Amino acid sequence: MLLGSKLHQEAGGNEEAFLKDVVSDLDRCFSVVENHEAKGASGNQGAAPLCHLCNNKSPRFGTQPIVFSFSKIEEATNKFSKENLVAEGGFGFVYKGVLSDGQLVAVKQHKLASRQGDREFKAEVEVLSSAQHRNLVTLIGYCTEGGRRILVYEFVCNGSLNKHLSRKNPKPLDWPSRQNIALGAARGLRYLHEECRIGCIVHRDVRPNNILVTHDFTALVGDFGLARWQARGDTAEQTRVIGTIGYVAPEYAETGQITEKADVYSFGLVLLEIITGRPAFDSYQQPGQQHLPDWVSFSFSSLLLRLCLITFTDCQATPFLAARAAHELLDERIDESSVDEYELINMVTAASLCIQKDPSKRPKMTQVCSSLAVTL
Ligand SMILES: Nc1ncnc2c1ncn2[C@@H]1O[C@H](COP(=O)(O)OP(=O)(O)OP(=O)(O)O)[C@@H](O)[C@H]1O
Ligand SMILES: [Mg+2]
Repeated sequence: MLLGSKLHQEAGGNEEAFLKDVVSDLDRCFSVVENHEAKGASGNQGAAPLCHLCNNKSPRFGTQPIVFSFSKIEEATNKFSKENLVAEGGFGFVYKGVLSDGQLVAVKQHKLASRQGDREFKAEVEVLSSAQHRNLVTLIGYCTEGGRRILVYEFVCNGSLNKHLSRKNPKPLDWPSRQNIALGAARGLRYLHEECRIGCIVHRDVRPNNILVTHDFTALVGDFGLARWQARGDTAEQTRVIGTIGYVAPEYAETGQITEKADVYSFGLVLLEIITGRPAFDSYQQPGQQHLPDWVSFSFSSLLLRLCLITFTDCQATPFLAARAAHELLDERIDESSVDEYELINMVTAASLCIQKDPSKRPKMTQVCSSLAVTL
């Protein structure tokens, strides 16, 4: 229409001006197309923003898992190009990709392709992709073509929590971001354990690598329920302990029997890491202090920490003591003036309760969420 009317007007006009106008009209048309694509590339139209800073969008909730052909995955990842490679993890290589509707995805290709257990794998993925919550990484679909095991997740824009907690990170996380991440991850786990329609899903590998964050430090728990596929790709061996050193609950390590309380234990360690900025297992520490709870109980703070716990559980709070104990543990890279003391005490208390040896004494994730969410 635009070009047609220009041609019409041109009958009595100057040729050079006409051409200029046509070029500028074309530019405008192209910029509309580019804008449209750019909007698409940031995610589904109409979907909620996952990150308010980069405007990355979540996939639509309530959709069925997509069964991808291998060629679609190749198209999305630019044929698994080096530029699209994000990292190599326990499951295999992770690539960034973009689907034809503009949704950004993380494509995980299992190291070992195997037709064995294909049916169970598909069934498991179908079930897990129905778990959808704002603090869980959505499993969008999968591809098993040619014996491959490829999982397609929504892409979370700011990496995993371990990267942000690392001593190598020149910009250590501030307290409000730590609090936000702890609460978000707790809510994701509460949903898996207690609110999911299909029943309780035990994550099995709760640790900072599997907690992804956006630029505005919203936490999304990833890789839930799939840990069992990482070692051998079959589900037969229920008593084989799967998990990561430092995070595995003692009763699970001893018996191989897993319940959601094993996740609660691992989450307690994540909380301790968020508070102290120290890894759950540190081989550079002396023997006997390598496991984070052991390091905590070795340090001076342990005495105060225990007192702090007693005061909390006996409801005879001595706030000064509790606050001192909590500050003893705090990552020295955090500016103390930015710390909400009440939030810190609550987090220390929650961590201590989660890592109790007896699983029946550990709180449920609902209780952990409630205690983390309480502010003065
Ligand atoms: N959905 C995602 N969005 C963005 N990046 C991701 C996503 N999933 C994984 N990654 C990136 O890829 C890296 C490797 O992930 P992967 O899950 O394969 O291994 P891991 O988390 O280190 O260990 P694990 O095998 O226990 O999951 C992560 O540290 C993260 O940086
Ligand atoms: Mg992971």
